[in-house]
Amino acid sequence: MIEAQGLGVDSKEALPEFSEREDGRHVVYQFRNKTFRLDKAKARERLAGKRVINGLRTAELNMLPLKYPEAYRIYKQMKANHWEPDVIDMSKDSHQWNTGVLTAKERWIIEMGVGYFSAAEGIVGDSVLHVIEDNLTAAELKHAALRHIAEESIHMDSLLHMIGSLNIDLDEVTAKFSDIPSIRRKNDFITRHMPELKMGVDLTVTANKQKFAKAIFGITQVMEGTQFYALFAMVLSLHRQNKMTGVGQMFQYTLRDESNHIALGRFLLTQLIAENPDLWTPEFQQELVEFMREGVALEKEFVRDCLPEDGVGMTQADFLHYVDFNADRRLESLGLPRLSRISTNPFPWLDEVIFLRKEKNFFETRVTEYQTGGSMKNSNEDDLV
Ligand SMILES: [Fe+2]
Ligand SMILES: [Fe+2]
Repeated sequence: MIEAQGLGVDSKEALPEFSEREDGRHVVYQFRNKTFRLDKAKARERLAGKRVINGLRTAELNMLPLKYPEAYRIYKQMKANHWEPDVIDMSKDSHQWNTGVLTAKERWIIEMGVGYFSAAEGIVGDSVLHVIEDNLTAAELKHAALRHIAEESIHMDSLLHMIGSLNIDLDEVTAKFSDIPSIRRKNDFITRHMPELKMGVDLTVTANKQKFAKAIFGITQVMEGTQFYALFAMVLSLHRQNKMTGVGQMFQYTLRDESNHIALGRFLLTQLIAENPDLWTPEFQQELVEFMREGVALEKEFVRDCLPEDGVGMTQADFLHYVDFNADRRLESLGLPRLSRISTNPFPWLDEVIFLRKEKNFFETRVTEYQTGGSMKNSNEDDLV
């Protein structure tokens, strides 16, 4: 376990692309190739009022001066990865779906993917809006969270594109999946504390700060960071076998987005803890570990439902290990103890998929490249998986 101050909180120091200097009565901030010149006294005053929670609230969303340039960097990274579901070609998927090309097991994985994420993307978007963004007070943090929410809308839209293109009966899918206990338990687990936080709690009270921190941890590290990945891996395994490539491509873009959401959540948590060390007690750290443990158990139950036995090119044990592997890397990134002894990633190719490096070697379909020139270079890639 580590102390709050050990979490690497001075994000300005960690970012060589960000600098500030004084120039007469101005302070000059440099972010990449942009220069911002601000009145020194006013800038200092605004900066002093910026905190993750309980800071100066303003409706103006005044980003400058940036106290948390890392949040702005993650925003830029998210924006550089922008994609539009509607233009992903689903004709081959539709053909495979409707002409018996897929086995029953493969169809089931796609159905689980559509069924689970139809609910899950909405839960994340709603929670980031009403639980996280609402309670943040620093403008650049709210700004990044708003982009996160917008991306969940894109993900929801991608599911509509899949459902519409495959001609799946939406009500049938919804009814079918709301009855699957492992899906219901996963969703109930993550949302059970949300109603109270949505009502607005007094975030000057340590116990409430801990609830808020646990919500960020639950949404971004347990749900997006752990409970999404096994199903991503299954759908993208099909993709690698040239099956349901349109769906796979959308999952691929979604996965890349999720890696930024995980990074943003981790950043929010580390800043929150640094500014509020009272919340980071040994007991609370243990509570987060136990929360992850429960999330892992539910996820393994879900994996067994998705892949009841080994399928073509897929081994159930690998996916169960993948759950452990992801849970541990989320815990470790926050200085929390690991839960398992799994140290090898069973799907190293998935991390490569996130960055689209080998996409053109993997897939037969023509790739629509949304990445704007050179923007991949802006991230520390190890931080974004
Ligand atoms: Fe999402
Ligand atoms: Fe997400």
